[in-house]
Amino acid sequence: PPDIPVANIQAHLNALQQAASRNGGNRAHGRPGYRASVDYVKGRLDAAGYRTRIQEFTYNGYRGYNLIADWPYGDPNNVLMAGGHLDSVTAGPGINDNGSGSAGLLEVALTVSREGLRPNRQLRFGWWGAEELGLVGSRYYVNSLTSTERSRIRGYLNFDMIGSPNPGYFVYSASGQPSGSATLENALRAGFQAEGVPIELTSVGGRSDHASFARAGIPVGGTFSGAEGYKSSAQARKWGGTAGAPFDRCYHRSCDTTSNISSTALDRHTDVIAHAVYSLAG
Ligand code: PHE
Ligand code: CA
Ligand code: ZN
Ligand code: ZN
Ligand code: ZN
Repeated sequence: PPDIPVANIQAHLNALQQAASRNGGNRAHGRPGYRASVDYVKGRLDAAGYRTRIQEFTYNGYRGYNLIADWPYGDPNNVLMAGGHLDSVTAGPGINDNGSGSAGLLEVALTVSREGLRPNRQLRFGWWGAEELGLVGSRYYVNSLTSTERSRIRGYLNFDMIGSPNPGYFVYSASGQPSGSATLENALRAGFQAEGVPIELTSVGGRSDHASFARAGIPVGGTFSGAEGYKSSAQARKWGGTAGAPFDRCYHRSCDTTSNISSTALDRHTDVIAHAVYSLAG
């Protein structure tokens, strides 16, 4: 699997920061910074040969958007999906939450194109709207699928916060949640092993978009660098950083800017996305 250059991911984060800064400081559902974010990601994917589609929905009286991108190769009856939410809270630009996952996914998708990957399985990437209002976009997407379309999606990998400034290296526990997948957990673990980074399993429950897929019986997995929780001293010994401080002290705050990112965590988690996508795609 490729080693993704972190500078490429950071360039996407700068674009998302600009989408916020030029549009009132956030990228929230119903605000112009969200649409600017969708347009940026879509533009890059279209130029790389993806089949993209914007799925519209309405929530709280505002138009919302999901962005879905298919790599048009591989078995369409055996789809591997990877996604994350592209919206922020209204308080700030949401660069770690979840510019980080959005940018990491985008760069992995662009790498697939650059390398001309011809996988056995079809790859589909998703950027969800209105997660911060209750997983609204991802639920809308899953509910919009026919049962046949749903059954073609054999796995969904979720990435929500992967560049926390005082980072952890968490993998969603297969046994700790509905529709957890040992296959997906193991592929992500193998990625961190290749990076030489020790992990902890975590039960993220219903806190992000994987839950929309899990409810439909689609196997799920993901990684996470930590949010408002505090790093323990054992975790600081293992991962470095500051014990007794939050993984992300700017979680859901105006200071969640491009300064609120560990480039090391962003690089490692994104390399793990690439590792898992490449190994699972066949
Ligand atoms: N979904 C949460 C948010 O966007 C963040 C989160 C992700 C929390 C994964 C736990 C696990 O605010
Ligand atoms: Ca890398
Ligand atoms: Zn959030
Ligand atoms: Zn989030
Ligand atoms: Zn690496």
